[in-house]
Amino acid sequence: MRTPFIAGNWKMNLNHNEAIKFIDDISYKFENKNNIRIAVCPPFTSLRSVILVLEDEMAKNPNMIIKTGAQNMYFEEKGAFTGEISPEMLKALGVEYVIIGHSERRELFEETDELINKKLKAAFKHELKPILCIGEPLKIREEGKAQEYTLGQLEKDLNDIPESELNNLTIAYEPIWAIGTGRTATPQDANEMCKAIRQKISKLYNDKCAQNLIIQYGGSVKPSNAKELMSMPDIDGALVGGASINVDDFLAIINY
Ligand code: PGA
Repeated sequence: MRTPFIAGNWKMNLNHNEAIKFIDDISYKFENKNNIRIAVCPPFTSLRSVILVLEDEMAKNPNMIIKTGAQNMYFEEKGAFTGEISPEMLKALGVEYVIIGHSERRELFEETDELINKKLKAAFKHELKPILCIGEPLKIREEGKAQEYTLGQLEKDLNDIPESELNNLTIAYEPIWAIGTGRTATPQDANEMCKAIRQKISKLYNDKCAQNLIIQYGGSVKPSNAKELMSMPDIDGALVGGASINVDDFLAIINY
């Protein structure tokens, strides 16, 4: 049985004061009717505050478990890399997850599969749990090459990553045309790709890894479509952008 996993990707939103208020508010209203795994991924500047406030709130309410993730990291351990954050720095803060290869990183900051592969290896080395994002742009989908493209990313990103790490990996299928656009992939289309990703993992590794792998869908997930997406057999969760910085929307998605 795969435990559903919903993560909020705050992107470049909420300064640390707003982040503290968000955690206060969500703690006050918290319910987890579906008994799922939950994480929030704030900007670097809010990570420490979020972790400390969550620790406090979770001590008061043992039913609330919300983990923390970063949105990016560099692969080197330390040194002259101005502006970058190392895996060890995240680990020392108490961060558990790290989003790697988000399409905004790939598109706006020119991250290649080779770089993403290095980041994944560094994350595993430091016992961080990566959420690897893959997914096709609209043009590729219209050309009928969405699977070839997305599975190609998957294979390159996982190059030389041993089977033993797969337990700590989450894949997020995020078709780029559905991110922040209000346009969601149909549950059937999203499921078809998630199923293809699972089959590819079975080929690259084995069936057990494929069956245990958590595959999220991301791209305009909101309270109104979460239930239908989450009911698909190969979709095990969601990576939520816009709707994750609104307390009521995020809770409604968690309680789909
Ligand atoms: P969105 O973003 O939910 O705002 O479409 C999802 C993501 O980019 O992870």
